[in-house]
Formats: sequence, structure tokens, C-alpha cells
Amino acid sequence: MNKKQILDHLKSDNSADLFKEADRVRERYCGDQVHLRGIIEFSNYCRQDCLYCGLRRSNDKVTRYRMTCDEIISCAQNAVKLDIPTVVLQSGEDLSYQMEDLCFIVKEIKKLNLAITLSVGERSHDDYKRLKEAGADRYLLRFETSDEKLYEKLRPGRYFSQRLKCLEQLKELNYQVGSGIMVGLPGQTLESIAQDILLFRSLDLDMIGVGPFLPHPHTPLAGNKDIGIAAVLKVLALTRIVTRNAHIPATTAVGTIDGQGRQKALLCGANIIMPNITPMQYRKFYEIYPDKICLSEDASTCRGCVEKMILAADRKVGTGFGHTLKTRKLDI
Ligand code: SAM
Ligand code: SF4
Ligand code: FES
Repeated sequence: MNKKQILDHLKSDNSADLFKEADRVRERYCGDQVHLRGIIEFSNYCRQDCLYCGLRRSNDKVTRYRMTCDEIISCAQNAVKLDIPTVVLQSGEDLSYQMEDLCFIVKEIKKLNLAITLSVGERSHDDYKRLKEAGADRYLLRFETSDEKLYEKLRPGRYFSQRLKCLEQLKELNYQVGSGIMVGLPGQTLESIAQDILLFRSLDLDMIGVGPFLPHPHTPLAGNKDIGIAAVLKVLALTRIVTRNAHIPATTAVGTIDGQGRQKALLCGANIIMPNITPMQYRKFYEIYPDKICLSEDASTCRGCVEKMILAADRKVGTGFGHTLKTRKLDI
């Protein structure tokens, strides 16, 4: 698809055929398995001040927490018990963890025979290298929007070119690389979303996260409206068609904007689900956006819930690690 065709779909009110096509492409290039990634939100401290995010450093209404190394490792042990083959370690940009500690955590978790995805923001090339050498397999770093001006307005002091440079470095270091966007950011246009989808393709990403922007009341973007599920599903379906075999999650944010959002996403291109395995006492404090789902369901409940969701969609729970479907050579 070229930009005009993508844009025409984004403008159209009738997406039924688009969703069917995305489902067909998903089935052909990714198969029926839906892979599980257990997310551990291990710290909500952040040095950045992204206008959209509830964890931004200027939000003094957040109760901040930082899990210890032992807590993080024991959470990963729980993933093993629950038969979840990948853990995603996510946090704000919290520089209080020494690189040594993060590498120790990664090494210990690798001993459990789990795949590890990191999502800890922008770091130096050296940090990325050390974490890869410690055993991390994958890295998620959304570029959020390909509209450079908008990006730099929403992330004060940060540069779009730097975000892309990080993605490039991660790829060079042989990580399986994920990126993504929020749909419905104030100031975002359909044109720029079409551009985002083309950028997904040219970056040849292993994983792509597409979720709605959900306005948080304690941020400068409070008072904006979210865009609604239909627009997000359209972007997800187009992303599937354009990128074919990238792993695409039915995100928690899609499940938050619509009670059936993740089920719907599974039917128009998604092939990944990320049950939350963060310890219960911390969940409510990792409030990137309001009314996040799964605040009172524990890891085992979420694991059971997503399995039911997968089977109800007539799909299978993934076996194995669910590594990248791209063919470039990786040391895995
Ligand atoms: N700090 C790391 C980073 O920014 O890459 C990882 C954690 S950050 C909370 C993960 C993702 O949350 C961001 O990439 C962004 O797309 C998403 N996010 C932040 N605020 C959001 C909001 N208000 N609505 C929806 N998604 C949001
Ligand atoms: Fe920090 Fe990430 Fe939130 Fe930005 S999106 S404020 S970097 S946690
Ligand atoms: Fe947490 Fe459904 S995934 S309760």
C-alpha cells in the first residue's frame, strides 16, 4: 500500500473488509498462535516529562515505587509457574538502578529459561550493549509519532532523531526491536498516522505496538478526548497488512478504551497479549493513563483471563518463546 491508499482507509467509515483482510494476513504470516508476554512494571520513577504520560516527573500526585532486584526476579519466577515464556521489564526512565543491577536481574531471569524484553526508555549505546550481553532478547521503544515537531512538543527536551538513533543502535546490537505509536494524540493528523505506518515498514520492526492515547487528568493534556476504538483498530489492521509478519499486541490500552478491545484487536491483526504480572501492591501506581484494566486481578487471574480470550477467538496459546518472525539472522 502507498500513502494515499493508507490514507483513504484511515478516512473511510467502512472497515469491515479491511479488518477481514488484516485477519487473513495475520493468519497467513503469523499463524493461529497468540504469544503471551508477562509485563512487570518495575518502577514508576521517570526523569522525562512527556506531556501525555501520568508518570512524567512533574506529576507530583503519583506515589512512586521502585521494586527491588529480588522482587523483580521473584516476579519472573511467577511467570515460569504461570507458563508465560517472556517477561517484559518496563519502567519510567529511572536511572537509580545501577547498570550492574539491571544486568544482574537480566542474567538471573535468563537462568529461568525466559525470553526478556526491555522497555526502559532511551539509554546510551553502552547501556544497550551491556544489557544485550547480559542476555536481553528484545527491546520496545515506541517512536510515538513520526511527526517530528509534534514529537518534540510532546517530549520536552527530547529529539525525534535521537529516538530513531536508539532504534538503529538496538537493531545493530541484534535485539529484536519493537516500536509503536499512540493514536489520537492532540495535534496528530491522519497524514502523519499514514506516515507512521510507512515508517513501521521501512524500519522493518520485529514488534509494533499501536494503542490509543488516553488523556491523564494530572498531565498538561488533561481535558482532551480519546479517539475511540474504531480509529485504533483501523491503524492496527493497516499496520498488519503493511508489515505482514511483525508481532502486534492487543494492548492493555485497547482493552482500557473498550471492554472488548483486546478481543476485537485479535480479530483484526493482533497476535500477542501481555498479561500484567506486576505485584498487586504496585499496580495502581503505574498509572500512565487513567482507569487501566487489571488493577485488582492478580497475575494468575490475568493469565487465565487472556487464555480464555484467546480460545474464544478460536486461536491457540503460543508455544515456545514467540521470537521474531522476521528472517534476519539473530543469536537466539
Ligand atoms: N519509559 C519508557 C518509554 O517511554 O519508552 C517505557 C514506559 S512508557 C510508560 C510505555 C509507553 O506508554 C510509551 O511508549 C507510550 O506510548 C505509552 N503511554 C504513555 N502515556 C500514555 C497515555 N496517556 N495513553 C496511552 N499510552 C501512553
Ligand atoms: Fe517517562 Fe516513558 Fe512516561 Fe515518558 S512515556 S514520562 S519516558 S514513563
Ligand atoms: Fe487481567 Fe483480564 S487480563 S483480568
